[in-house]
Amino acid sequence: MLRMTFRNYIGGRWADSVSGKLFENRNPADRTDLIGVFQESTPADAADAIAAAGRAYPSWRQVPAPRRAEILFRAAQLIAERKEDFARDMTREMGKVLDETRGDVQEAIDMTYFMAGEGRRLYGQTVPSELPNKFAMSVRQPIGVCAVITPWNFPMAIPSWKIIPALVCGNTVVFKPATLTPLSAVNFVKVLEEAGVPPGVVNLVTGGSEVGTLLSTHQDVSVVSFTGSTAVGRLVNQNAADSFKKVHLEMGGKNVIMIMDDAQLELAVEGCLWGGFGTSGQRCTAASRVVVHEKVYDRFVTELVGRAKALRVGDGLDPSIQMGPVVSEAQLATVAQYVEIGCKEGATLLTGGHQLRDGAYASGFFHEPTIFGDVSPTMRIAQEEIFGPVVAVMRSHSLEEAIAIGNNVSYGLSASIYTRDVNKAFTAMRDLYTGIFYVNAPTIGAEVHLPFGGTKATGNGHREAGTAALDVFSEWKSVYVDFSGRLQRAQIDTQEL
Ligand code: UN1
Repeated sequence: MLRMTFRNYIGGRWADSVSGKLFENRNPADRTDLIGVFQESTPADAADAIAAAGRAYPSWRQVPAPRRAEILFRAAQLIAERKEDFARDMTREMGKVLDETRGDVQEAIDMTYFMAGEGRRLYGQTVPSELPNKFAMSVRQPIGVCAVITPWNFPMAIPSWKIIPALVCGNTVVFKPATLTPLSAVNFVKVLEEAGVPPGVVNLVTGGSEVGTLLSTHQDVSVVSFTGSTAVGRLVNQNAADSFKKVHLEMGGKNVIMIMDDAQLELAVEGCLWGGFGTSGQRCTAASRVVVHEKVYDRFVTELVGRAKALRVGDGLDPSIQMGPVVSEAQLATVAQYVEIGCKEGATLLTGGHQLRDGAYASGFFHEPTIFGDVSPTMRIAQEEIFGPVVAVMRSHSLEEAIAIGNNVSYGLSASIYTRDVNKAFTAMRDLYTGIFYVNAPTIGAEVHLPFGGTKATGNGHREAGTAALDVFSEWKSVYVDFSGRLQRAQIDTQEL
C-alpha cells in the first residue's frame, strides 16, 4: 500500500522535520487503516517556524486588513468546495460521524467568513476629548507571532477559531495540531496557502509536547492560544509566564442540563442524547451531567436509557451510524476507569459500561453509550471531566437546588435548562456561572459569531469566536491627536465654563 507522507509547512515550504522521524495516523474505528505518516518534529523545527513567522510579520501587519480579509474569503470558499472530502478525512482520523465532521468543517467555513468580514471593521472607538482641538480614538494593533495549539475533537473548527482571527488582525502564526488529527490540519493549511496567505504567515509543525513546550516558552512568541485539558493548560500558562506572553486558554468542562418538572420531556431526552453522546461525549461542551426534577425523574430516565440503548455505534463513515468510536486507546482506558469509579462510588449503572470488542468493533476503540443514575453531585463522575460517552444523572427537588448542583463544579463552560416557565429560564440564565447558556437546547451547539469560552477552571478570562476573539489577537492603542498648536495638559488645563 502506498504510504502517504505529510510534511511540516515552514516559511512557505513543505518540509521534513530535522528529526527524520515520523509518526502514524490511524483510524480509531479501524486500526488497520493507516491514514498517513506525519513529521515528529523537534524543538528545532518549532524554532524554525517561529523564525519564519517572525520574518513574515513586518510585511503582513502592514497589509490593509480588508486585503488580508480577501485572502480569507477565498479560503472560506475553498473549504466550502472541499467540505465533503475534509469531513471524510476527519471522520477517518478521529472517528466522529460524518454529519458531525461536516458540521466541524462548516464551523471553520462560518468562522472564516465571519472573521473575513471583520477585516472591514476591526472597530475601535472615537471619543470626544476633554480638551478643545484634540482628537481621541483607540485602534487595534497586531501583536506578533501567535502559537496555536489545538485538540483533536474539533480538528478544523478550533484551529479556525484561532488562526483566522489571528490573521485578520495582522499577526503571523505557528500552528501545532493534536498528534491524533494532523491530516485535518494539513488540509486547513493547504487551503490557506492556496488562497494566497504569503509564505511564513502561517506555519504548521506537527508533533508532540516538546513542540508545545518550545512554542509556549520561546521569547519570540507573543501570544499562545491553547485548547485542551486543564492540566496541560496550566503548564502552558506557567511556561508562558516568564516572557509575559498573552495566554488564551480554553480547557475542560463538566456541563449540566437541568430538567424541570414542566419540561417538554421528549425534547429534553433528545437534547441529552445529542449533548451527552454526540462526538462520543468528547466535547468540552458535552452534557456529561443531567439534573432532573424528582417528579419527572423516573419517566425521564426510562426514556433516556431506552433511547441510548438504541443508538447505533460504529464506523462514522457509515451514514446509518449515530455514534463513532472514542479517539484512542488512552481515551478508552479513561472511560473504563470512570465506569469503574462510578460503580464503586455507588451510582447505578443504568446502561452501557462496556467496551465493544466483537465483530466489526474488533479493530477500533468503541464503547457503549453509558448512563449512571442516582448519582450524587459530589461523586467523581459528577465532578471530573471524562471526555467520553458517559452521562451522570442526578435528582433535584427545585430550581434552586438544580442551579446549586449545576454551579458546584470547578468548570464553567456551558449549561442548559429545559422548562416551559420563562421565569425559571431567566433565573437559571442569570445564576449559572458559565460562559454559555442554553434554554430548551442541549449544552452543545455554539455558533461562531458569539463569544465561546468558560469561567473558572475552563478558561482564563478570554473568549474565542465572535468579535471577542479579536481581543485575544490584538492589543489596544489609544491615540490622541492635539491640533491646537499649544501644550494642553490633560486633567489640568480644562477651561472654566
Ligand atoms: C468543543 O467542545 O471543544 O458548541 C467545541 C459546540 C461546538 C464547539 C465545541 N460548536 O459544541
